[in-house]
Amino acid sequence: MNSYLQSLREKDVIRVEMVCLGNICRSPIAAAVLANRANEIESPKIIVTSSGTSSWHVGESAHRLSEKTWTLAGYEHSHSARQFLAENFDQVDLILAMDLSNQANILSLARNEVDREKVFMLRSFDPAAPSVEVPDPWGSEVEAYQEVLAMIEAAVSGLLRTLR
Ligand code: 4NP
Repeated sequence: MNSYLQSLREKDVIRVEMVCLGNICRSPIAAAVLANRANEIESPKIIVTSSGTSSWHVGESAHRLSEKTWTLAGYEHSHSARQFLAENFDQVDLILAMDLSNQANILSLARNEVDREKVFMLRSFDPAAPSVEVPDPWGSEVEAYQEVLAMIEAAVSGLLRTLR
């Protein structure tokens, strides 16, 4: 396993930030799933936040289809959109990008190697995933959001196996 991930397993608390573009569709679903499932492992305790690389939706609630999708699946979560900024690197231990453009945008803000080693693709934790990307459902019907949820759930299962 990656040595940085290995080191996180020794911590009592780890802070995870889910990041997409708008912080209204994918990363709020990812935060909802991880926050609700974090108690499946006794240690480390997991604190979850989310943000978007753009400022476009700052302060907004999640997209209604994201909220509908996680609620129907039994997750409880409240959300207000934030932008990912360079100082976020200091506030979290793990930064999980939804797609490769999100990852590139996050890495473009990294100030040093300490920042860079915190950045991973969420789906890289799902060994069965055919792609490392969670595709953007913005503009699609609810089925696309439900597919995103399923991808995220599988990845979160893998993440929890990695961290326990
Ligand atoms: P997200 O989806 O990155 O999963 O939150 C999007 C939300 C809004 C936009 C693009 C993607 N937008 O162009 O406003």
